[in-house]
Amino acid sequence: MKTLVLVAHPTMIASRVNKVWSEAFAAQPNVTVRDLTALYPEMDIDVLDEQKALLEHHRIIFQFPFYWYSSPAILKQWQDLVLLPGFAYAGAHKLEGKEFMVVTSVGSPESDYRAGGHNNFSIDELLRPFQQTVNYCRGKYLSPYYFFRAIAADDDEIADGTRAMLAHALKGDIDPERDHENFTIDTMRKMFARATEAAEWAHAMRISPWKTGCPAHSSERHIRSWSRGLRTPSLMRL
Ligand SMILES: Cc1cc2nc3c(=O)[nH]c(=O)nc-3n(C[C@H](O)[C@H](O)[C@H](O)COP(=O)(O)O)c2cc1C
Repeated sequence: MKTLVLVAHPTMIASRVNKVWSEAFAAQPNVTVRDLTALYPEMDIDVLDEQKALLEHHRIIFQFPFYWYSSPAILKQWQDLVLLPGFAYAGAHKLEGKEFMVVTSVGSPESDYRAGGHNNFSIDELLRPFQQTVNYCRGKYLSPYYFFRAIAADDDEIADGTRAMLAHALKGDIDPERDHENFTIDTMRKMFARATEAAEWAHAMRISPWKTGCPAHSSERHIRSWSRGLRTPSLMRL
């Protein structure tokens, strides 16, 4: 899988976090890093070049320091110029199925970013325009990565955060639907196992199974047929 990292930082020379991140990304195989500020100091974005880069990669990462509850301006300029009708939407959806992810460094601590906290809203909520832009272009919006306390962090914390960021951003085969399906199946297996155990215990004790606290099935017959279902070929295949 080829990954494109679009870096938006207006003063990279003074950066502690994003500089380390760009270098770490650049050292990975199959990763292309494009520093938008370095490429376009006057914000005169080359639309065709940017579109070509998008088409050549499957996962696109927006990397930036969190500025005024959003990204630095050059990334907005990039969106406004590059995501054109006939390319990203309206007639042609050339980004359809591609994966998009935000990785951002945030000055304040995580506790500030929640209802009732200093900043009232989570970063997930504040990044809704990114999420909906990706939805609109029929891309897949992957779970973002946030590095909080970015200014206060010492070098060791930045190094740890960089390792965690890389592991998150470059993880292959991200599929939340499959993960949820597996979680549900695993949970059901545990439920069935507990119900079977409860039914067997109730049977041995000669008491009514509903007294075991097994809520959905109030008769031993139900619990037994339910747990027998686990052994049928269709459920075993789960
Ligand atoms: C113009 C500007 C706006 C900022 N806005 C925010 C903000 O809205 N929320 C926040 O938590 N930090 C904010 N910060 C702090 C930056 O997120 C922080 O400096 C950055 O993540 C550090 O990354 P770097 O070392 O790569 O520059 C802001 C900083 C600047 C310079």
